Amino acid sequence: MNQHMRPQAVPFIDLVAQRRRLGGAVDDAVARVLAHCQFINGPEVLELEAALAGFCGARHVVTCASGTDALIMVLMAKGVGRGDAVFCPSFTFCATGEAVALTGATPVFVDVDEVTFNIDAASLKRGIATARRLGLKPRGVIPVDLFGQSADHDAVAAIADAEGLFVLDDAAQSFGASYKGRRLGGMGLITATSFFPAKPLGCFGDGGAIFTDDAEFAQVLRSIRVHGQGSDKYDNVRLGLTGRLDTVQAAVLIEKLKIFEDEILARNRIAGRYAQGLGNVVTVPRVANGNISVWAQYTIRLPSGTDRDRFAGALKAKGIPTAIYYPKSMHQQTAYKDFPVVDGGLPASERLSSDVISLPMHAYLDEPTQERIIAAVRGFFSA
Ligand SMILES: Cc1ncc(COP(=O)(O)O)c(C=O)c1O
Repeated sequence: MNQHMRPQAVPFIDLVAQRRRLGGAVDDAVARVLAHCQFINGPEVLELEAALAGFCGARHVVTCASGTDALIMVLMAKGVGRGDAVFCPSFTFCATGEAVALTGATPVFVDVDEVTFNIDAASLKRGIATARRLGLKPRGVIPVDLFGQSADHDAVAAIADAEGLFVLDDAAQSFGASYKGRRLGGMGLITATSFFPAKPLGCFGDGGAIFTDDAEFAQVLRSIRVHGQGSDKYDNVRLGLTGRLDTVQAAVLIEKLKIFEDEILARNRIAGRYAQGLGNVVTVPRVANGNISVWAQYTIRLPSGTDRDRFAGALKAKGIPTAIYYPKSMHQQTAYKDFPVVDGGLPASERLSSDVISLPMHAYLDEPTQERIIAAVRGFFSA
């Protein structure tokens, strides 16, 4: 194709536009860290933890080096290990189950609801029976709030309470989202999130946080974050990690949190426009009653029989990127295929892995660009 005819490429996530909006605020914040040189545990870390707590209503926030570390630290603090079963949806990013496996416990994969993409309570119940049949001890469940939308936490809590399981909410994709009027992280659940740059609230590298209402648990997490340090710095009282968030990343996040509320509103406006423009050609995502999503992804399902690669190729030719989250559910991946799955299998996860595709989504997606995307999707199905 002639170079001049090539359509302008649309960013999948536009971090450059966000940088433009932030102006010099982030640069100044980073410059302050470069001036005081407290790169580890600088004052910005505590300041950020207080700001995050205020934002979501959590009593205690423990920032850490990544969303994966957040999950691992909680599982370490819970003391899970060999012979324990921790239930995870299979349709998720690999870190959910990986964190469990790294502790020596067994991730037991359960199915998801096809409408919300989140853990299916009936499958969780069946998974608990599967684990017992296999001689594993059910210990915990990690509901994931996938693509920006909260899982059905009341349904999960009812089962967890009845079975004596702890709940670790994997909100890596969903910090800022609400469930029945309460922000994730502020519902009393132990919640882990990620500040990976592409997340709704992202830093300029890796980062994460854990939210809890339990002061003692937060203390254990702080100890694990620094090699299991005790009150005497050189008497380590448990195993831990180097799991701290860098001061520079904390400084970046303090500035980004100031515009986050407004970005969540923008993401919801954009999701509304997609739903209106595409709702009669593909299956658009549905937000459950009482939920507010932060739209980490805008993930559609293609009508059965659609060639997904051809669809992606047609959009790409028009300068529109797409991504597939996730072409394989966890139980279908090489590293995880030998871990147990719920009796009866995971038909919903497998169907989703074969027919989902995500469209560009970020708070700076302007209307003309979004119209181009909508027209390209509609054009594919009318051709
Ligand atoms: C559902 C889920 N859990 C955990 C993680 C891990 O977060 P991080 O990349 O910050 O380690 C991610 C990140 O993509 C995620 O999407």
